[in-house]
Amino acid sequence: MNPSSLAVRCQNVIKVYDTGGQKVTALNGVNLDIAMGELMMLVGPSGCGKTTLISVIAGILDQDSGYCEVFGEDLLNMSNQRKLAFRARNIGFVFQAFNLLPALSAAENVSVPLIINGMKRSDAERKAITVLEQVGLGERVTALSSELSGGQQQRVAIARALVHSPKLIVCDEPTSSLDHETGRNVMTLLKEVALHKDRALVIVTHDARIFEFADRIAEMDDGHIVEVKENYSAVRKIEHG
Ligand SMILES: Nc1ncnc2c1ncn2[C@@H]1O[C@H](COP(=O)(O)OP(=O)(O)O)[C@@H](O)[C@H]1O
Ligand SMILES: [Mg+2]
Repeated sequence: MNPSSLAVRCQNVIKVYDTGGQKVTALNGVNLDIAMGELMMLVGPSGCGKTTLISVIAGILDQDSGYCEVFGEDLLNMSNQRKLAFRARNIGFVFQAFNLLPALSAAENVSVPLIINGMKRSDAERKAITVLEQVGLGERVTALSSELSGGQQQRVAIARALVHSPKLIVCDEPTSSLDHETGRNVMTLLKEVALHKDRALVIVTHDARIFEFADRIAEMDDGHIVEVKENYSAVRKIEHG
């Protein structure tokens, strides 16, 4: 792959958690390239390192060794201040546990990335409401996030990851709390975003119903990428007629 068309490049990424003297190797030499304009899904058994890998890619967690580059930038060797600014501008993250601020409304939660990037509060809330409408939550913009159902909170988290038009969107199980139709609507929205040629999406999922949205699917096991399948939905159609 031409390096200038790469959104993410991971080379031999290793991460060992050390809790109370017990070491767990979560990433054991990950190699993965993600192209601009690509929607890459990441699948694999619980505990294989998926959340750890996307946390390293998004600059939330530092790897112990190996190289990880996002849009040509090595986040590990950036100053904290530059890294925070880079993340705020370029990365949207949907956490598995949503991580919304419970005392803020849906619209206020979604405004946060815009305000961090310097937008005026009133403009930020107006923009937040348009994205909440896109995820089907136009009726709930003033509700506190603690008053929302799990599926609604998940959509607020997705809106918050999209609102500032980041170049890289990273999602941990973004459809786990959604019914089939809402899940497909959210994936259609995410896929539209990925179609921009200078952006990319990485989506961790167990949800076979959404595999067809992937450009490629990386299978992980035991801290490694074991296989990357190209054009998965096409391959599946051939396999299953
Ligand atoms: N903060 C942490 N401290 C210690 N061990 C952790 C921590 N986070 C994850 N692990 C361990 O690292 C391994 C990979 O975890 P994780 O990346 O969460 O996997 P997945 O998302 O695929 O379920 C697991 O063995 C898990 O128990
Ligand atoms: Mg996980």
